[in-house]
Amino acid sequence: MKLLFLSDLHDDFWVDADRDLFEGIEDQIGGLDHLLIAGDLTNKPKVRWKYAFERLSKLLPLERVSVFPGNHDFYDFCLDGEDRLEQIASAFGVGYVQKKQLVFGSTRVLCATLWTDFELGAGRTINESHASARMNDFRHIRVASKGYRKLRPSDLVLAHRNQLDWLSGALAEDFDGQTFVATHHAPHPSALDSQHDNIAAAYASDLSELILKHRPERWFFGHCHGGKNSSVGDTQLINVSLGYPDEIADPAARIRDLIFEI
Ligand SMILES: [Fe+2]
Ligand SMILES: [Fe+2]
Repeated sequence: MKLLFLSDLHDDFWVDADRDLFEGIEDQIGGLDHLLIAGDLTNKPKVRWKYAFERLSKLLPLERVSVFPGNHDFYDFCLDGEDRLEQIASAFGVGYVQKKQLVFGSTRVLCATLWTDFELGAGRTINESHASARMNDFRHIRVASKGYRKLRPSDLVLAHRNQLDWLSGALAEDFDGQTFVATHHAPHPSALDSQHDNIAAAYASDLSELILKHRPERWFFGHCHGGKNSSVGDTQLINVSLGYPDEIADPAARIRDLIFEI
């Protein structure tokens, strides 16, 4: 089976830049058995997910596509609005796989945004105040159940714990085959490069203990445009982010590298 796990398409930015991120690899996308979009499909999802899915539908049947959100998929929207995201995806036949398991033959893929615990480096208190001052997430995302106030880092820590609980439980379940994990945020600081200095805790948590305990074969992650592959114990950590148009000269080459067979 041919699979493509791809995050950070930022489809709307590529449209604005008048560039087609799948140009030249249409046949390979059409030949995929599955495309998993691991977050950051677009900003403003209530409007733009529809356009992104319409574009994708010209390349492959959307029944072969799954998605879970990244931080950008909540921009001009609310953190607790995932029912709506699921409705939009389902209307196109796209699988919505937040805290869900995909199975391809003898391979399972555990999917979740993951978020972050903000613990890396200087510690949570300093990281949270630094991130809320610097990151657009805290200006563009709201929390509907709290009177539509602006997102706070503590909201993301709660979401992280909730999703980590699910992931830990799923990893502990017996599975006769190989286990992959796919998240938007990174599970280990070794994925980051120098451009993430001072803001690392917003991009990654250190989940070494969980990884070493359960030893999934591969952990795919995004969010860190330009992040790197690494490993923890026997687990390969694989960055599957694309990125913004001004970061990627040849998106087809990048995407082609991320297609793999099981
Ligand atoms: Fe991104
Ligand atoms: Fe992201």
